Amino acid sequence: MLVKNSDFYREYVRVWDEGAVIDAPFITLGVEAILKDFYGDLLDAPPPFPVEAGERVLDLGCGWGRVLKPVMDRGARAMGLDISMKMAALAKNHLVKSGHKAQVINGDGTRTPFKDGSFDKIYSLLVLQHLSKENGKEVFKEVHRLLRDGGTAYIRVPGRFAPENLLFAFLQFVSIHVFRLKDPIRMRFYRLGEISRICRGLFRETAITAHEFRPPWNFHTRWTWHYIIVPRRFHARLRRISDWFERKANGRVPFLRHFGVVLMVKVIK
Ligand SMILES: C[S@@+](CC[C@H](N)C(=O)[O-])C[C@H]1O[C@@H](n2cnc3c(N)ncnc32)[C@H](O)[C@@H]1O
Repeated sequence: MLVKNSDFYREYVRVWDEGAVIDAPFITLGVEAILKDFYGDLLDAPPPFPVEAGERVLDLGCGWGRVLKPVMDRGARAMGLDISMKMAALAKNHLVKSGHKAQVINGDGTRTPFKDGSFDKIYSLLVLQHLSKENGKEVFKEVHRLLRDGGTAYIRVPGRFAPENLLFAFLQFVSIHVFRLKDPIRMRFYRLGEISRICRGLFRETAITAHEFRPPWNFHTRWTWHYIIVPRRFHARLRRISDWFERKANGRVPFLRHFGVVLMVKVIK
């Protein structure tokens, strides 16, 4: 990773290591881990993308193996890579318990040890948001290097203009610049045009879809992060509204994609 100094790097990894021990589902998925009426149980969800038996798949920033397990259940030859040794250990454990031969290594997604063209598919979900934009570009370049020609990658980033993310960005700004709280894994948000510019020179095809048109769920401060302000009885209804917006945004009203909480970037080399 390109970092200002080694203290920053150590602190960055420490937060993930510590999160792996305290509450891995929450540090990896945030409120999505606890909104069961909105999302269902994400901790045992099927793979988020199509995967074929025998395909070589890399999960870059694999966390505790949430995505690797269902991918391997379908017969793919998957590997995980994570910057946190403790997360990588959790992922190995999770896979071994599910009867898989776990191949998870500790490493940095901006410069991995794999050979060019090693993978048919690459996932990197909820990782780029914690890296500087400079390091985010390095990950895109690395993904391009690691994919075989014709291979596909899915990269999930948070959208810049979703109401939830605007509130998040504002509270984060206040905590860093007014209260001087250090947050090495602070969130970065992406605009559609920005992603298109990064991918244009690298990939043969780029498609960006928008997901989660949900209202702000909570106030993202150190103390209130777990408290959901929208009463639970509305969650299922909000899910239906969000799905409706999602269909429009990824269909006939593409302008709405600017307001998705989640942007899914699909690139083909
Ligand atoms: C929010 S979690 C997401 C985990 C997983 N992708 C998922 O969707 O459940 C982010 C993960 O990325 C890892 N990570 C952060 N920066 C990384 C980097 N530069 N290289 C590899 N892994 C990284 C963290 O240790 C953490 O496990």
